[in-house]
Amino acid sequence: MFDKQVYINRRLALRKRIKSGLVLILGNAESPMNYRSNCYRFRQDSNFLYFFGLDLPNLVGVIDIEDGRDSLYGDDFDIDDIIWMGPQPSLSELGGRVGVLSTHPHRDLFGLVNRSIQQGRRVHILPPYRPDNIMLLERLLGINQLMVKSYASLDLVRAVVALRSIKEDCEIEELERAATVGYRMHVAAMRMAKPGATEQELAGHLEGLAIAHGYMPSFPIILSQNGETLHNHDHSQVLTEGRLLLVDAGAENGMHYASDNTRTMPVGGKFSSRQRDIYNIVLAANNKAIELAKPGVPYLDVHRATSGKVITEGLKALGLMKGDVDEAVANGAHALFQPHGLGHMMGLDVHDMEDLGENYVGYDDEITRVNQFGTGSLRLGRRLQKGFVLTDEPGIYFIPALIEKWKAERINEAFICYDKLQDYYNFGGIRLEDDLLITDTGCRIIGKRIPITVDEVEATMSQ
Ligand code: GLY
Ligand code: MN
Repeated sequence: MFDKQVYINRRLALRKRIKSGLVLILGNAESPMNYRSNCYRFRQDSNFLYFFGLDLPNLVGVIDIEDGRDSLYGDDFDIDDIIWMGPQPSLSELGGRVGVLSTHPHRDLFGLVNRSIQQGRRVHILPPYRPDNIMLLERLLGINQLMVKSYASLDLVRAVVALRSIKEDCEIEELERAATVGYRMHVAAMRMAKPGATEQELAGHLEGLAIAHGYMPSFPIILSQNGETLHNHDHSQVLTEGRLLLVDAGAENGMHYASDNTRTMPVGGKFSSRQRDIYNIVLAANNKAIELAKPGVPYLDVHRATSGKVITEGLKALGLMKGDVDEAVANGAHALFQPHGLGHMMGLDVHDMEDLGENYVGYDDEITRVNQFGTGSLRLGRRLQKGFVLTDEPGIYFIPALIEKWKAERINEAFICYDKLQDYYNFGGIRLEDDLLITDTGCRIIGKRIPITVDEVEATMSQ
């Protein structure tokens, strides 16, 4: 964990943004796979990690705005735990590591919350996403579990988003560490993408690499020759010479900071000229985003300039789109080929803070989500600020079912050369994703850039 002062400072910063009441930050519990003591790998809640740093289950952090005290609620391990788990620190020792001096048994939380409600004090909670925390809040607050989410405090959500959006130097160091392992995972995929290997072998190797570093994948690995399916978790195919393989994978380091990169490579190591043409359009869009992303610029504009304009211009030059480029983008015609947004925030979560509500993270009073297919999926649209960390992930996909649907409904037929698209039904998809840190004047890629040009990818694949 970071030095305790980091957590003390974050809690102080939160206090300045919340006027009154009691702030509850719930840690996560273990999550059983098939019976109580056989659990999935424990993943602490990211907000709890941010403010209270402790990577252990069954803890609740409390920030009392009026009395100025931060507290931890949890239970000390008993002798049975110690027999199975070895010596464990006490709750007060754990609290000391993150600058919390006031520690209490978990059951005392009920009295505290009850008293606060009786006194008419506001109890601020974040939107829970795990059933056991929803049930805990039901019991603590006396609210039906179906209503618990709607009780979440917008003041608290906005305050947490404001703080977590700006990455501290110590966080950027962790993101760089995650990126180093992410780099190794992608280079390994490039070296293994030979005809006859299986998608599962590659996916398993990448996951193993993350785990061998004491990390884990930051999300279930997407690795498929059917890269046109945006989040394809099927790994059942044998790699075939001439097909494209899309690999979207990242590492989450020991401090739970993420990397998230996508590379697309030709099985066998050489792009065909048709693959290269499409690839270079996506690469141009990715590079353009790096050129444009800087403080003050809305990411929605960067999305339109890259996922919209660069991709439309490129596809028009290849004869797959037609008409006026700006008009095509305004009509959302490019979304046939890229039905997702340019990127999202990243940090302690690969889609950072998505539990708090995408619109609170990615939009604000000035820039609201666009109601249009494709651009409507953009998770981050608001103006960029120094310290934001986000992904830049344009793509071009040929999704036969979507093309057929649009063609039958004559959607955007002024801009799309439907008669040319039949030849691309087996093409797959290309996505190229880098992670960016917004700096004073622009942005920079986090970590060493994974091979991305056609020449770099082919050279890496041949090693
Ligand atoms: N890399 C997975 C995603 O951004 O959704
Ligand atoms: Mn991503």
